[in-house]
This record gives sequence, C-alpha cells and structure tokens, in this order.
Amino acid sequence: MEFKLTEEHLMIQKAARDFAQDVLKPGVIERDELQKFPKEEIKKLGELGFLGMMVDPKYGGGGMDTISYVLAMEEISKVDASVSVCMSVNNSLVCWGLEQFGTEEQKQKYLVPLAKGEIIGAFCLSEPEAGSDATSQKTTAIDKGDHYLLNGTKNWITNGNSASVYLVIAQTHIEKGHKGINALIIEKGMPGFVVGKKENKLGIRGSDTHSLMFTDVKVPKANRIGEDGFGFKFAMKTLSGGRIGIASQALGIASGAYELALAYSKERKAFGKPICQHQAIQFKLADMATEIEAARLLCLKAAWLKDQHLDYTQAGAIAKVFASRVAMETTVEAVQVHGGYGYVKEYHVERLMRDAKITQIYEGTTEVQKIVISRGILG
Ligand code: CAA
Repeated sequence: MEFKLTEEHLMIQKAARDFAQDVLKPGVIERDELQKFPKEEIKKLGELGFLGMMVDPKYGGGGMDTISYVLAMEEISKVDASVSVCMSVNNSLVCWGLEQFGTEEQKQKYLVPLAKGEIIGAFCLSEPEAGSDATSQKTTAIDKGDHYLLNGTKNWITNGNSASVYLVIAQTHIEKGHKGINALIIEKGMPGFVVGKKENKLGIRGSDTHSLMFTDVKVPKANRIGEDGFGFKFAMKTLSGGRIGIASQALGIASGAYELALAYSKERKAFGKPICQHQAIQFKLADMATEIEAARLLCLKAAWLKDQHLDYTQAGAIAKVFASRVAMETTVEAVQVHGGYGYVKEYHVERLMRDAKITQIYEGTTEVQKIVISRGILG
C-alpha cells in the first residue's frame, strides 16, 4: 500500500490550486451574488485540460488517472464549487459516458470537443417526478424507424443553458420498465428543444441549473448510446463514477472552509491571544482536520479502485455519504470559528456552507447512497 502522491499528481494538484486561487477567487463572491455563470473561467479551465482530464489523448483528453481528478476537484472546490460542478459533470458524466459507451463516430463528433473544453455537456436524468427513483422516467423517446421522437421535461440540469451537448435519458419501451430506457445525445438548437427557467438556488449559485423541455424533438438513431434499452444502466454506471467527483467536491468545500478557519484563528485575537490558542477553537480545528483527512482517504480509495478497474460503486457511495456530511459539519464550524465575520460574504465561509448542502442531494441523495451501500453489503 502506497500513500504517497507521484510527482505528476503533485504537479496537477498545484496547477489546480494556482488556477483556483489566481483565476477563480477574485470574482467568486460576485458570481455567487449575481448568479453569474463562470463562462470565461470555464473556458480557461478547459484550455488547461481540466474538462477532459481522464479522456484518452487520442480523443483530445488529458489521459490522467482518477486520483489526479480527485486532487484537482478538491482544489477547485475549495474556492468555487459552481465551477467544480461544471467540471465534474463534464468529466465524470458526459466525457466518461461517451468514451466508455459511445460509437467511434459519436466520440469524434462530441467527445473530442468536450474533452478539449471547446464545448461543455450536460447529463439529463432528473425529472419533476423522477429524482431518486430514476427508473420512473416520464420523458419518452418513441422509436420512429430511423429516428426517435423525444418528448418530456428534465429538471435541475447542471450546465442547462451553457451546454452544447446533452445526454438525455428517456423511456422507449414503457412495458419493459428500466430495460426499455435509452440514452440519447441531443444538440442545443435541435428543433423542439427549449431551455426552461433558471433555478434561484441556495448555493452553487454561479452554476447554471435549468429545466429543459423537449417537444417532438427528432433524434437520429445514430445518437443513441449503446444497445436499445441500455439507457438506465448507462446512467447508473456513469453516476457510479460521478459520485467520486461529487465526493471530491464535498471534500474541497470542507478543506477550503477549514483552511480559512485555520488562517483566521491565527490572526484573530480574543482575551489577549490569537483564538487558535484557546482550546475551544483548537478542538474544532482538530475535529475538522480529522474528518477531512478521513474523507480524503475515502475519495482517493474510490478513485484508486476505479483506476485499477476494480468495482468502485460502493466505495464511491461511501465516499460521497461521508465527505458530504463532513462538508456540512466543517463549513458550519468554520463559520462559528469566524464568529460574526463568518456570517458576511467577504470571508467566504458562509458561501461554502451554502454550497455544501447540494453535495448531500445531487448525483444521488445521501439516502440513495445508503441504498447503494447496503445493497453492496447485503449482496
Ligand atoms: N452499475 C451498473 N448497473 C447498475 C447500477 C450500477 N451502479 N445500479 C443499478 N444497476 C442495474 C441493476 O443491476 C439492475 O439491472 P438488471 O435489471 O439487469 O438486474 C438495474 O440497473 C436496475 O437496478 P435497481 O433494481 O437497483 O434499480 P432501482 O430502481 O432499485 O434504483 C437506485 C436504484 C440506486 C435508487 C437508482 O435509481 C439511483 O441511483 N437513483 C438516484 C439517481 C441519481 O443519482 N440522480 C442524480 C441525477 S444526475 C445529477 O445530479 C447530475 C448533476 O447535474 C450534478
């Protein structure tokens, strides 16, 4: 067992940290306040290769491992979780899904520009009545011979307005239940496809979360991913890896808040000394550091399993449950360490506290992760 990062891992981690501190931090409060999508920042992230990190270089990707991805996600999420959710969806759901299961033609047409960061993608599973219960898809893709006719509504779609390519899950053979579901590649601008309202969210306010409406959208058969009926498994397999990304996002939110609390506790004086010299604060810092270290190890273990081509579904769910709880607890404590200053925007921790909550909800709630874990335990 080796707990040491390689030189390459350390370089990637540093590049992500420098980008987060130099490029993301200056505008993050304003983007959060104005709900402004980080368009320029995402473009730069793509130019650095962070939007297709794990994709084979022959398809325009960085050819990096999942451990590198966890390290980069942590650093970006320390500063701007609105950027890291876009990064996570593009890397783990859209690029990975296309690379693993797409045809060569689909890879050339869609994966290459996505991996190069020239465009971004969205993953469209959730519906008004199908969040956790993902088999209950009401969106339909009716087989019309050489094409599918797509109808329905998707909700809470990350990159909803900014994406150019959408992987949409829809029901084709209702009588077959989850075995009748397909995954289709939809392009922005296809007739009948309309981007709906933008959500006004508690956290990750810079990210672009929209509903999407499809009315008689003609989708060529060539845009189906995998065999007929593979759509539900496609979604589940893709989300298994996506959860490592969101666990790493939660880890980053927690460690970002901890680093701010630690620095503040050394500067702020009360009762004649820096507050870090009071045991009440030391115990908080010790608890945060302990939990963050455990969350990091769980994220890295899940990533390592994926890199070894071993089963990582349960490990990813465990990492997500734990890291997202640590994100909630750590950010609340980081605000507490800051006292009144923690409650105002300039000190960043209140935003991290708001951002943390979504990590317990998207890409499978904590409750769904516990279903996945208990099925793993019970067989
Ligand atoms: N890998 C491969 N196959 C899987 C799988 C996995 N991880 N999980 C399930 N499957 C397969 C099963 O083996 C089964 O196959 P067979 O029929 O051949 O046996 C099939 O899929 C159906 O599985 P289940 O019977 O377990 O399905 P279920 O209805 O009981 O649901 C669930 C299981 C885990 C609750 C699932 O519905 C789920 O994960 N729900 C949450 C969905 C989710 O994460 N939504 C997030 C939206 S995306 C998002 O948030 C992105 C974003 O914008 C940030």
